[in-house]
Amino acid sequence: MKRALGAAARDVAAYIRTLDENLSEPPLNAGAAVPAAAAPLQAPSPAPLPAPAASAAPAAAVAAEDIALLAEKVKNCRRCGLGIARLNSVFGVGTYKARVVFVGEGPGFQEDHEGEPFVGRSGQLLDKILETVLGLKRSDVYIANIVKCHPMKSPETPEAHGNDRPPTPEEISACRPYLDEQLRFIKPACIVTLGSVATKVLLGIDKGISAVRGHWYDYPVELFGPGHPIKVLPTYHPAALLRNPNLKRDTWEDMKMLKEFLEKPV
Ligand code: URA
Repeated sequence: MKRALGAAARDVAAYIRTLDENLSEPPLNAGAAVPAAAAPLQAPSPAPLPAPAASAAPAAAVAAEDIALLAEKVKNCRRCGLGIARLNSVFGVGTYKARVVFVGEGPGFQEDHEGEPFVGRSGQLLDKILETVLGLKRSDVYIANIVKCHPMKSPETPEAHGNDRPPTPEEISACRPYLDEQLRFIKPACIVTLGSVATKVLLGIDKGISAVRGHWYDYPVELFGPGHPIKVLPTYHPAALLRNPNLKRDTWEDMKMLKEFLEKPV
């Protein structure tokens, strides 16, 4: 027992050291710009989770085609003002065979420029967490956001830094159907909500992230009929960890829960 506790303590210490490497103190706007040449990730190599089971080729091909159509729809979307101001829509990244989908709030500066979610400082940290605790890369999971376009304080200056703001309730409800469509295609076993906004929106609750993290919930929308809930695990947004490194330990606990869930036989 003592030995197991000692090993767990060493694991968490190594994880926290790994997350700290090459990540200097965050700017106030942690979701924003990142230098193009990010420092290499140096994570220890945990036992990787089993690769996502290959599904039948024809089914995967149909889903990929449908999801490409959906991505095209998002690209041309003008359901709210975000679609007019943004540089690129940010649909999602990863595998459509993912058993877990990570959902953030919305793209920031860097994501708007690259058209991919979580590529700024928060994204680098998310990659490290995936690799360190789960032995996974972003290509083994799926990563998306509640809104697909960059919410800006000043939409006329998309090149400005420090221009991020949270999405409004109207923007969230305009964009929400896209995420449910993505989930229908992917059919994940679970969703990890990153931060308060994603958690409140997807669980329909009005509690802060620290009150709800570390527990499993059922996704309240029955995408696959009764009795087939998608499980939801809320955790801190990586930007919160950049601002407050003390939260890394709780995130480690949450990711261990996720690893255990993913390791259970289907
Ligand atoms: N923060 C988010 O919530 N999503 C991103 O894609 C990037 C930063």
